[in-house]
Amino acid sequence: MTQFGAEFREKYFPQVPKDVTPVNHGSYGLTPKPVLDFLNELNHEQEEYPDEFYLLTAKNKYIAQLKALGKFLNVDYHNLALLPNATMSVNAVLRSIPWDLKNDKVLIHSSTYGGCANSVKFVHDSLGLQYDIIDLQYPLEDKDVIAKFEEKLTKNNYKLCMFDTVCSMPGVRLPYEELIKACKKYDTWTLIDAAHGAGLVDMGFLHKLKPDFVTSNLHKWLCAPKSTSFLYVDPKHHKTIQTFPISWSYALNSTELTKEMEENLLIEKFWFSGTINYTSGFCIEKAIQFRKEICGGEEKINKYQADLQKEAIDIVLREFGTGAKLLDNSTHTVSVAGMFNISFPKNERNTKFIEHLTESFAAYRKFKVKCETKMVVDHKAFAPFIAHNNELWIRFSVNIYNTAADYERSAKLIKQTIEECIEDELK
Ligand SMILES: Cc1ncc(COP(=O)(O)O)c(C=O)c1O
Repeated sequence: MTQFGAEFREKYFPQVPKDVTPVNHGSYGLTPKPVLDFLNELNHEQEEYPDEFYLLTAKNKYIAQLKALGKFLNVDYHNLALLPNATMSVNAVLRSIPWDLKNDKVLIHSSTYGGCANSVKFVHDSLGLQYDIIDLQYPLEDKDVIAKFEEKLTKNNYKLCMFDTVCSMPGVRLPYEELIKACKKYDTWTLIDAAHGAGLVDMGFLHKLKPDFVTSNLHKWLCAPKSTSFLYVDPKHHKTIQTFPISWSYALNSTELTKEMEENLLIEKFWFSGTINYTSGFCIEKAIQFRKEICGGEEKINKYQADLQKEAIDIVLREFGTGAKLLDNSTHTVSVAGMFNISFPKNERNTKFIEHLTESFAAYRKFKVKCETKMVVDHKAFAPFIAHNNELWIRFSVNIYNTAADYERSAKLIKQTIEECIEDELK
């Protein structure tokens, strides 16, 4: 078996040029070669004879992926649908629910992914749906996060609460199991944004806690090609949920359903909602197989990421120098084995500017674009950052193709880039 790290990268991720230091798996993921090869084969098959592919083959392939995914997640595959990404899944849920606009209210948190928060805002702006936002300023203890949600849930009658397994920026883990339990206690439906979910965190909560709606990207941490996510829908919502965009299957709403049709309703609705390239989604089984057979399974992957992450944290802290901190709490439950955040060291010269970035979104955007372009183009070592709670948090990812050298190189270059961009602004 090829060892994770440099040799693994060379063999299974040869598409990544040697001068690129990939420490941002969290944003888009990277697909291993055997899965990419399979994707190419599928594309070829699709283009050879589209009539056969779309009319006869596609639905069977779709169901085969659901079955493989259902087994991996330990859930009934009839409760799963495939969508291109987490944003679309969140949109599908928010725009399917027949809101009672007089009474229904939605609860989200301030570190909700921007695209998904905007989906809530859109339903507010277009329909008038009310929503509240819980302010989360990190670092935070899990018990304080839970208390903030509880406080809101006790006082209001929320129809639905949307929260993450792991937030995007900063890349912090929420106590999602406790939050599902809290919502259940108050009869609030849960919409869980597990964009950073399958392949990164334990998804056992699906089976154990039976939330209402969960979406997880599979192109981020499960080695599937881009445009692959699933939406888990509790059976009690199968009739309500609609495809995004609304399409052929909406007609099923006015059809009398047999028991068998009801059992397969989610499949009937979601397997086809317009002609797109479905081949990425059809690689799920292959991606799961890659992780099991070539990587040696989820535990082995998780252990490599956890061990390398410990080393990487020390390296980045050392390279960033005095004043740099790991985003953590007293129970060490903020980071997952795959993503960690380090603050950019503040000093007499830059403190005011960094604090200004957390107050002015316009200044932050301008600064961010400048820094990111430099990182991507000049250094080919990119890690996203956010101005949050008077700090600049840089999010590093750790994966099976990484080595300690990736963090030495990227930390040096990222620090240099941010320093240069701050100096530019202070001139
Ligand atoms: C927490 C979270 N939600 C949603 C998304 C959106 O994912 P996608 O672009 O695949 O829809 C991301 C992407 O990084 C994310 O981090």
